Amino acid sequence: MTYNLTAPCHFGLEKILSCEIKRAGGENIKASDGRVDFTGDERVIARANITCSVAERIGIVLDSFTANTFDDVFNHMKNVPIEEYAGRNDKIHIVKGHSLNSKLTSIPAIQRTMKKAFVIRMQKKYKINTLPETGVTLPIHFLLMKNQMTVTLDTSGVGLHKRGYRAMSNAAPIKETLAAGIIDIARARNAETVIDPFCGSGTILIESAFKAANIAPCLNRNFAAMDWGFADRKVWADAFDEAREAIRKDCGFTALGFDIDKAACELTRENAWKAGVDKYIKVEKRAIKDFVYPEGKSKIITNPPYAERMGDINEAKEIYRTMGKRMLPLGENELYAITSVEDFETLFGEKASKNRKLYNGMLMCRLYSYV
Ligand SMILES: C[S@@+](CC[C@H](N)C(=O)[O-])C[C@H]1O[C@@H](n2cnc3c(N)ncnc32)[C@H](O)[C@@H]1O
Repeated sequence: MTYNLTAPCHFGLEKILSCEIKRAGGENIKASDGRVDFTGDERVIARANITCSVAERIGIVLDSFTANTFDDVFNHMKNVPIEEYAGRNDKIHIVKGHSLNSKLTSIPAIQRTMKKAFVIRMQKKYKINTLPETGVTLPIHFLLMKNQMTVTLDTSGVGLHKRGYRAMSNAAPIKETLAAGIIDIARARNAETVIDPFCGSGTILIESAFKAANIAPCLNRNFAAMDWGFADRKVWADAFDEAREAIRKDCGFTALGFDIDKAACELTRENAWKAGVDKYIKVEKRAIKDFVYPEGKSKIITNPPYAERMGDINEAKEIYRTMGKRMLPLGENELYAITSVEDFETLFGEKASKNRKLYNGMLMCRLYSYV
């Protein structure tokens, strides 16, 4: 069966996600702000969940319509053939939703309306008065934007940024999906040296190692759709096998992580080990004032402290000046730094070859690339 699918992503990473979805076998790929729509069967759903590094989740689009009133919501949801996905005992869970510039604004009221419509339909289809809800949970998401409502059945469950290696983190970790996007922009691949002089919990180094060794980022976790009655276990097992077989065995990649904080260095080591990429990653406690390039060409990919999230703005600015003193001239090395501080280039002491707008959560940042 072919499904209409959608994958949300960080603004600015839509092109990267479109390529990943194409590699997963998706068709009719259409990128728009913060999401990529596509079509595919169960195999595509499984592959996209396991392999896409910048997707936040993979959803089956159940309906897309104009919702001016609660009746519109109710009538549309009542006509969604939810019983094709949910068994008699399963639970429909309206996880969460967003309403932007729309007439309907109460999220709980929309959730209640949707749930009521699904329950009535299931009662009728399964000829029962009370739904046992003792089976698996089917998470439903909705987005209402300018009165246009899109309802999706979430096949991922826990967001795809949760790879399974970062149970613990430091104060301001970068989201795994955003880190993966930056690494893609930096084209950090096999046989390269990646350095993160502010490594924190190690996200950039670990995601770089994943890309270099072609390790699917979500190879070591489960997904909501794996438990659903209509999902074929073999399809998932094959997709996992395929991803395992694709891992590069001859990977000559090296990553170096530095941080002023001893606990952060420990955390990076621990997370790298959990992610199964510790053999590629060396970590050392070192402040930016002591930064030196290793021999050969390196790509520095980093998320230095920014004032909004850690410490004081003057401290962050001083760190950027120190970065410039220790890293310039770059020579044949490349630098990719993401920060929300607008005058990064002035403080660092050189204009970037390119800067891109990227959001870190709600925070507008720029990725400064020196290539
Ligand atoms: C924004 S966090 C990096 C988060 C990291 N990308 C992650 O995903 O966990 C910045 C890191 O810079 C470190 N740091 C702060 N001042 C530093 C300095 N002068 N030299 C080196 N590291 C520093 C902090 O300890 C913190 O771990």
